[in-house]
Amino acid sequence: MALFGKSKNNSAEVNPAVLPVHIGIIMDGNGRWAKKRGLPRKAGHSAGAKTFRKITRYCSDIGIKYLTVYAFSTENWKRPQDEVNSLMNLFKSYLEEALADFKDDSIVVRFIGDKSQFSEDLRNLMTENEESSKDRDGMVLNIAMNYGSRDEIVRAVKNISADVKNGRLSEDDINEQLVSDYLYTAGQPDPDLIIRPSGEYRISNFLLWQSAYTEFVIMNKLWPDFEKSDLDEALNIYSGRNRRYGGV
Ligand code: IPE
Ligand code: IPE
Ligand code: MG
Repeated sequence: MALFGKSKNNSAEVNPAVLPVHIGIIMDGNGRWAKKRGLPRKAGHSAGAKTFRKITRYCSDIGIKYLTVYAFSTENWKRPQDEVNSLMNLFKSYLEEALADFKDDSIVVRFIGDKSQFSEDLRNLMTENEESSKDRDGMVLNIAMNYGSRDEIVRAVKNISADVKNGRLSEDDINEQLVSDYLYTAGQPDPDLIIRPSGEYRISNFLLWQSAYTEFVIMNKLWPDFEKSDLDEALNIYSGRNRRYGGV
């Protein structure tokens, strides 16, 4: 019997006992998708944005509590200016239109990463989205933008050190929980499952601290081709994993 069969209304029938609470997705493969079709890379990013919308809705429909999507890394600024510009334009139109859609699904929108490098327009849109969605009771969607896990950890170390200096913390307060509390994902459970489409076997600076015991599923589909059925497949693979956390 399929664990994640489809019901008539097209939402998955899931066994809540094996459903991950928190899923991370490295939305990769947009450029290769465009190249295969002889299109500019930005066409791949637009197609990837549509997939983002579809999969986010689906995760919310099937009862995922937290979804973290990797949209732009601290290293992605080194791409050609033209590509960076088209990504920034895409983010802007998404934050203006599509995110308003998530209202119907009660999705709480949060951004993780260093916002300070974005234009003022974009920063304001990010804040508006966070403010207007913060009291909703649905899935928490973390959009990782200008996110790098090493950068996140350095920031946490600096803030901890400042709080030790100003007396808010003592050195004895520093433990694993405290470090987690200084990350962008403070207060959220660690990801149970990270999915990377596009077939790359690497983490590319995503949730390094948080993924200590995360299950990884690498899929060969490029992100713009990713379907709800691919998410079901990842969930099925996840449900068959034996998570031991160092035990037996
Ligand atoms: C992911 O797709 C989107 C971003 C990193 C912004 P890529 O643009 O990395 O696509 P590939 O890996 O070149 O195919
Ligand atoms: C990771 O993909 C970042 C995002 C998907 C936003 P990259 O395409 O930047 O990663 P590498 O360069 O293949 O490691
Ligand atoms: Mg890539």
